[in-house]
Amino acid sequence: MEQQGHFPLSAQTTSLVHALLDTPRLIHRRLSTEDANFILELLNDPSWLQFIGDFGVRTLEEAHNYILQGPVEMYGRLGFGLYLTVLKEGNVPIGICGLIKRDALEDVDIGFAFLPGFGGKGYAYESASAVMQYGKQVLGLKRIVAITSPDNLRSAKLLEKLGLRFERMIKFSPEAQELRLFGADL
Ligand SMILES: CC(C)(COP(=O)(O)OP(=O)(O)OC[C@H]1O[C@@H](n2cnc3c(N)ncnc32)[C@H](O)[C@@H]1OP(=O)(O)O)[C@@H](O)C(=O)NCCC(=O)NCCS
Repeated sequence: MEQQGHFPLSAQTTSLVHALLDTPRLIHRRLSTEDANFILELLNDPSWLQFIGDFGVRTLEEAHNYILQGPVEMYGRLGFGLYLTVLKEGNVPIGICGLIKRDALEDVDIGFAFLPGFGGKGYAYESASAVMQYGKQVLGLKRIVAITSPDNLRSAKLLEKLGLRFERMIKFSPEAQELRLFGADL
């Protein structure tokens, strides 16, 4: 992984980042506009549309803009964000996983989505475990949360495997859907 945030990291921190974000089967790297094709596919996958929502990204140009205004903006502002999860074997992008800071939540939350062809192999768990260790050891997070729609049972199962526990239902606005908030101390 290249430089984190807007300041250069020491060699020691850089090697810690690599040690945490490179797992036996996966690497994680920052998203760039070169990943627009993959993002277009992921954001239009039925499971993304069902469980995360319709971001209205239908063209390569819209995928490009999403990458710049979403993850890339957050790397610049906070030094972390959603990363591309890449299978070492074949250098194939399989999903995104990372940390998000939302105005509506006090704590940083973990987010993930993988293409269905790569489900059921433990990749999401391996990727999210690495991101949590990164949050704890590099960013110094003391707590992490996650939000899911109530019917997203696979996500809830993964969060529990990661050590997060259901805490309460939340709503981001009076009209919004109720979401399940999970959390864990790190
Ligand atoms: C949520 C989501 C990431 C979960 O993916 P997943 O495939 O269930 O999770 P994993 O990749 O960790 O795989 C776990 C499964 O692989 C199995 N597995 C196989 N090989 C494994 C290995 N080497 N190591 C660990 N688990 C392995 C596990 O037993 C488990 O199977 P089970 O579900 O039958 O118990 C995925 O469903 C997704 O991307 N959904 C759409 C987006 C979404 O909803 N995101 C969350 C929004 S809150």
